[in-house]
Amino acid sequence: MSDETPLTTPFTARTTAAEILDGVDLTGRRMIVTGGASGIGVETVRALAGAGAEVTVATRNPAGADELVAEFAGPGPGVVRAAALDLADLASVDAFIEGWDGPLHALVANAGIMAIPTRQLTPQGWELQLGTNYLGHFALARGLHDSLRAAGSARVVVVSSGAHRREPFDFDDPQFARQPYDPWSAYGRSKTADVLLAVGIARRWAADGIVANALNPGFINTNLQRHMTEETLRSFGVLDEAGNRIDLPYYKTPAQGAATTVLLAASPLLEGITGRYFTDNQETEVVAGGPEATHGVAAHALDPANADRLWAYAEQTLTSR
Ligand SMILES: NC(=O)c1ccc[n+]([C@@H]2O[C@H](COP(=O)([O-])OP(=O)(O)OC[C@H]3O[C@@H](n4cnc5c(N)ncnc54)[C@H](OP(=O)(O)O)[C@@H]3O)[C@@H](O)[C@H]2O)c1
Repeated sequence: MSDETPLTTPFTARTTAAEILDGVDLTGRRMIVTGGASGIGVETVRALAGAGAEVTVATRNPAGADELVAEFAGPGPGVVRAAALDLADLASVDAFIEGWDGPLHALVANAGIMAIPTRQLTPQGWELQLGTNYLGHFALARGLHDSLRAAGSARVVVVSSGAHRREPFDFDDPQFARQPYDPWSAYGRSKTADVLLAVGIARRWAADGIVANALNPGFINTNLQRHMTEETLRSFGVLDEAGNRIDLPYYKTPAQGAATTVLLAASPLLEGITGRYFTDNQETEVVAGGPEATHGVAAHALDPANADRLWAYAEQTLTSR
């Protein structure tokens, strides 16, 4: 967080993505939402296109976005397209960048995977959660830099998670090459890296008219939890007697879960704001972090020195692929 007063908005945790953009006209704005074909990504796309934007859903399976594309195929101002992108494979990221033409007003780094039970590797040999959640998005943002600059004023939004609080990025063993693999550590570290990605962009690309912010969407029942065992889900209290998923009282709907993303991507209230972290549509209090931390944004995720060190690590890792 900057030294300035934390940014507040009139919205709450229950505000929906569409309500954030009430009265906002995004006609002529071109946007990309990674992972836009499921979960909170769908509602992010729906709200942005609903306000008139031309939104590209970047997904491993473009056919999975058919319904969303059809929803905006009529004469209304918003348009939705789908394009193939596998963030875990740099060849796919490169092909997506190659296929992008013209200015880009907002890049929403929303796709993510969580708690993969065993250490899996990407085609480039990187631990899968780090490769997908962070390195793929780093490569994508860097490759689209000129398009973001060409927009004149552009925003990068990185969807992180409260899980970032549990651990700082491990610069000594980022790929779990030496230490035992832990699914939640790998997720938490990748989400710390996501916040640091926004901070790194904010530090580098401001003169190009590009801002970047990160967020925690809250708890939403989506496909994200598909790698969690029944035992873990039960310990979280989200399975009923019959084994069906239930929403806890503080869970958000996908439309509410997409609100903070949409606020950062397109609300006039965020004009010129960069390098910050938001939860429930408000800038978030900075805390010490660690496994006991239950709210706020951990200082380790906003640290400019960490952001610079991670940027250098990512550049070097991409170069040596
Ligand atoms: N739901 C929550 O409670 C919660 C809490 C905190 C943070 N988040 C974050 O919110 C974001 C969205 O998650 P969600 O809850 O909406 O889950 P979701 O429904 O599982 O959506 C995640 C999306 O990421 C995409 N994805 C996964 N691996 C990919 C890859 N290699 N290349 C391209 N796309 C890939 C998925 O595409 P496929 O359809 O191809 O799998 C899916 O569309 C994630 O970054 C997550 O970490 C969610």
